[in-house]
Amino acid sequence: MKSIAIIGSGKIGSGILKAVKGNYPSIRIIATGRRDETIENVKRMGVEATKDNDYAVREAEVIVLTVKPQHFPVVLRQVNKDSWMGKIVISVMAGIKVSTLSSLIPNAEVYRAMPNINALVNRSTTAIAERDGRGKEYVESIFKSLGSVYWVPEDMLDAWTALIGSGPAFISEIIDAFALGAVACGMPRDLAYYAILDMIEGTIKMLKSNLNHPVMLRDQVTTPAGTTIRGLMVMESEGVKSALIKTIESAYQRAYAIGEEIDKRLRESNGK
Ligand SMILES: NC(=O)c1ccc[n+]([C@@H]2O[C@H](COP(=O)([O-])OP(=O)(O)OC[C@H]3O[C@@H](n4cnc5c(N)ncnc54)[C@H](OP(=O)(O)O)[C@@H]3O)[C@@H](O)[C@H]2O)c1
Repeated sequence: MKSIAIIGSGKIGSGILKAVKGNYPSIRIIATGRRDETIENVKRMGVEATKDNDYAVREAEVIVLTVKPQHFPVVLRQVNKDSWMGKIVISVMAGIKVSTLSSLIPNAEVYRAMPNINALVNRSTTAIAERDGRGKEYVESIFKSLGSVYWVPEDMLDAWTALIGSGPAFISEIIDAFALGAVACGMPRDLAYYAILDMIEGTIKMLKSNLNHPVMLRDQVTTPAGTTIRGLMVMESEGVKSALIKTIESAYQRAYAIGEEIDKRLRESNGK
């Protein structure tokens, strides 16, 4: 891959930009945005910046679409149909299906990926919708420079959005609740907060090292008549586990509904 265009240099777009620049310094990067501030930001990162999406698409071999889904119709109007010819296009836009994108830009090889906000610290957990094509290796290498990559069937992306996309928000809520619990026990909040983050990192290391189910670690910690079982009894009586299962399922339902809505609107607005 010799050149890449990032269409929409917001949070995810600039995360991808930074990772590609850091890992593949010889690749030409052209990044776009709407506002002067976005353009200045991109320039400060040391890459080519422009408001001209058609120029960026024409110049690059690989195009990454990182605008919000509702802004994609504008991008479509801004880019000449011929400019997409033969390009490898990767969309991270939530909800827009590969079949819809392929019908809107028929001359390109389209991929769909779902990273998460952890891309900003190179720890994204990205799903890419399975498909074959000459761009497969490029797509994988871009997202590997941002963290881990899983190829999944496209119809799993709504569940991915709920679990892995929204996951950092849910985990943050749980961490905040732990910190408040610590404050209730008389611990200073800042001390508790960093201790919780360390404890979670350690727990993840334990789980990844040799245990293939979290219940095994839980049982190792749970001493008969000890403190952990008392806490677990409260989690059980308050329905914490069931609430978390429903959290993911409800987020999934919403991701699915939003996807259907966006996709339908996009197809209708283009007379497909
Ligand atoms: N945030 C997440 O956790 C996450 C996770 C997975 C996938 N996604 C997907 O990633 C995409 C971007 O999300 P985000 O959170 O990074 O949003 P964001 O920070 O709002 O970034 C969107 C960027 O698109 C630019 N833009 C809008 N219209 C444009 C146009 N016509 N030409 C050029 N640039 C344009 C905006 O530029 P200006 O700022 O100059 O207006 C903005 O910088 C979305 O489709 C979302 O579904 C996000």
